[in-house]
Amino acid sequence: MTDKLIIFDTTLRDGEQSPGASMTKDEKLRIARQLERLKVDVIEAGFAASSNGDFDCIQAIANTIKDSTVCSLARANDRDIARAAEALKGANSARIHTFIATSPLHMEKKLRMTPDEVLEQARQSVRFARNLCGDIEFSPEDGYRSEVDFLCRVLETVIAEGATTINIPDTVGYAVPELYGEFIRTLRERVPNSDKAIWSVHCHNDLGMAVANSLAGVKIGGARQVECTINGLGERAGNCSLEEIVMAVRTRRDYFNLEVGVDATQIVPASRMVSQTTGFVVQPNKAVVGANAFAHASGIHQDGVLKARDTYEIMRAEDVGWSANKIVLGKLSGRNAFKQRLQELGIEMASEADVNTAFAKFKELADRKSDIFDEDILALCSDESVTHENEHFGLVSLSQHSETGERPHARVFFTMGGKEVEGEADGNGPVDASLKAIEIHAQSGAELVLYSVNAITSGSTESQGEVTVRLQHGGRVVNGVGADPDIVVASAKAYLSALNKLHSNTQRVAAQG
Ligand code: KIV
Ligand code: ZN
Repeated sequence: MTDKLIIFDTTLRDGEQSPGASMTKDEKLRIARQLERLKVDVIEAGFAASSNGDFDCIQAIANTIKDSTVCSLARANDRDIARAAEALKGANSARIHTFIATSPLHMEKKLRMTPDEVLEQARQSVRFARNLCGDIEFSPEDGYRSEVDFLCRVLETVIAEGATTINIPDTVGYAVPELYGEFIRTLRERVPNSDKAIWSVHCHNDLGMAVANSLAGVKIGGARQVECTINGLGERAGNCSLEEIVMAVRTRRDYFNLEVGVDATQIVPASRMVSQTTGFVVQPNKAVVGANAFAHASGIHQDGVLKARDTYEIMRAEDVGWSANKIVLGKLSGRNAFKQRLQELGIEMASEADVNTAFAKFKELADRKSDIFDEDILALCSDESVTHENEHFGLVSLSQHSETGERPHARVFFTMGGKEVEGEADGNGPVDASLKAIEIHAQSGAELVLYSVNAITSGSTESQGEVTVRLQHGGRVVNGVGADPDIVVASAKAYLSALNKLHSNTQRVAAQG
């Protein structure tokens, strides 16, 4: 018989913990809907007690998503757990995921608790959670570096209290595949009531082995849930990547003999949505979702693939959602066609007025660019002037002059707290001049730590440029993304978007630390 492998997506929780990846409520909802279309089993929507903003996002996702279980993280205390339960009230299927650190280092240095105190807190928390929700996941944080005998005692206790999933995090990405797989197997063999819970793996990618470790946890250890994120998004080197896990298990079904319920054709759309939303660009040679993942450049390979695809291809690009850039709309497309395409892409606008704004932006774009692709529509709909989110700053217009041998000059009109202002500056290049012109009034004092430009659709200089700007200020890191056929305008939009995020100033409690 073939077992099912549960896919637990934590893009919106562990992924979002990555500095600069924080998302707005609308962005999170949009991604949650895409995760539902992708048919992931569990969506970890956030950490309800970490901030009111996170609570609202989880509540909105719980009220919207019907087909996937919606989960909230909670530290092992009654307040966090009650807050998670409250946020999840409207869910069709809800899960509370509670955690406490169990490694000697974390217990002594971070929690300043004895092992017995940790064990007791884990017991009480799962007991409390179980009275509020039937589906409880427990994670011993830094589980992989925990002492086995103690960990077995904790896990036996929480299963006896009603934990239904036991997740073993490699919090710091220290594991290697065989050892991690054997660690899970040992725990399952030694915990007397281990058969009463589903075992799960949660690996970080600090040594580049998150996917390999997770697969070893499944194959050697017998885990039946994998925790992962789209594009491997996450703090430091990221989390285990969903697309790699799913396609490894699918492509090597002969070896893993497991079913996954995911609709793989939604993988690339999900990857694009997450990278466009967060500004975390996918490296071209990234497995499955990188732009070159299916590009056969060498003559020998091209010749082979033309004769028989499986000479060099182990997966088909279309099976994971790659389609040749499809021209979806053009200058003559009407509002109905535009609205229908939004629906097909899973983009829900808050009101008809927002559809009108987006349609007007689409028409403007279609006047400047003959072919409009799905990626253009996705970028257009994430624009803050369409979503009306955090709009303290907004671009009105920009002009710049650059000429060989002359110092470039820019003049930018933008809104700041509802008032229109005009800034002018010189710079090393037109982008530099434009951002300086904005900064004259914005006075953010933020440090620019990343600036990158990518073509949204490849193959033509007509493509829109998508600019990501990362700003750091007062210990906070934010990303702004902007798209436009003119990369100087895209840069100004990205800069203003990052300033909006800095301005919204949402603070939250970290899950680890
Ligand atoms: O990596 C980790 O330990 C976590 C836990 C909170 C599950 O993300
Ligand atoms: Zn984690």
